[in-house]
Amino acid sequence: MTDDGTLQNPRILLIVSGGIAAYKALDLIRRLKDQGCSVRVILTQAAMQFITPLAASSLSGQKVYSEIFSLTDEAEIGHIRLSREADLVLVAPATADLMAKMASGHADDLASTVLLATDKRVLIAPSMNVRMWEHAATQRNVATLKSDGVLFVGPAEGDMACGEYGLGRMSEITEIVAAVMGAVSGSTNMSAPLQSLKGKHVLVTAGPTHEPIDDVRYIANRSSGKQGYAIAHAAKAAGARVTLVSGPTSIPPPEGVKHISVLTAQEMRDATMEALPADVFISCAAVADWRVTKVSAGKIKKSKARPPQIDLTENPDILTEVSRSSSRPRLVIGFAAETDALIQNARTKLSKKGCDIIVANDVSSGTDVMGGEENTVHIVRASGVESWPKSSKSDVARKLVALCAGELS
Ligand code: C5P
Repeated sequence: MTDDGTLQNPRILLIVSGGIAAYKALDLIRRLKDQGCSVRVILTQAAMQFITPLAASSLSGQKVYSEIFSLTDEAEIGHIRLSREADLVLVAPATADLMAKMASGHADDLASTVLLATDKRVLIAPSMNVRMWEHAATQRNVATLKSDGVLFVGPAEGDMACGEYGLGRMSEITEIVAAVMGAVSGSTNMSAPLQSLKGKHVLVTAGPTHEPIDDVRYIANRSSGKQGYAIAHAAKAAGARVTLVSGPTSIPPPEGVKHISVLTAQEMRDATMEALPADVFISCAAVADWRVTKVSAGKIKKSKARPPQIDLTENPDILTEVSRSSSRPRLVIGFAAETDALIQNARTKLSKKGCDIIVANDVSSGTDVMGGEENTVHIVRASGVESWPKSSKSDVARKLVALCAGELS
């Protein structure tokens, strides 16, 4: 590992699937080796229609693998070891078929079995006909893979081998090599979305706001800030520059994150707008919808007369303001804590607030989401809803950060 955290001799497990661009994989092996990578190659059966194991092995200087049930290979090196002994799994070209298998978790040959068994970062370079790329099924698979944290390079637009023109060409070899080097730089901990947000500014709001009634009393809510802090932490781990604007919480700020502490919704709004521009805005804070119109000086005295009447004024909606601002981040994500009609209300918020994604979670009594350690969320976009299984707030944060990286890539 070098001083900047880059792996010195990254071990790349290159999976070549069977598209016409497979012939370029031979050049890719050479270029990766020029960068100091060691390259071990898996060829699918279809890939062997385009290139031979002999050519791949001559260039990589290593044995080439293709059989899932090869007695010799399983004795020598199994599919788990192939993945374990790599720093990155690269699929180039990635055909529509292999992407579909990856998205639905198939494991019926060596390539798909390795891809299902790996806990390493996976980078894919799609290559297919423009209509196959644009097909709703492929686009669904792309969205699934991105939200699973798979990194993409390409596809590019241009003339195709089939005589058509459009999006679907495999990226240039130089671009794929650059993406590989970017993906392997920074860390050996492959469970986090490594350096995938390097150079990006991620702005997160978290926690509740406190809206003073007088000098000692305030209106607040049960937000603990855990989910927002976990997101800030995961974004930092992914290499982003992170600004965390936080209402009052008892959580220590994650290391290396710019932490701006605020009390009220108005202060949160000002700090957030000041922190722009950003590439991503994640509005996780449970901002109070109203503030007390006239905050009393001192402590309101209890009197025998009727209790004090508190008049409320609506707070600024920070998420809406950021979404509509001239320096709108490329990706704006809001949260919606709901107690009923979860998805329907989240959809309404998505269009009302002008954001790209609403992360909807059920906070009705008994769910233990507010203040708890786990969360069950639904990713609501204009194009559809994806429900994630119940998991820890830090897992939700990592997945969300991977999703952001996918959206920006
Ligand atoms: O309208 P509601 O409060 O349910 O919307 C939730 C989303 O809007 C969250 O992302 C929250 O951070 C954001 N919000 C905001 N400013 C407000 C109220 C909510 O940014 N005043």
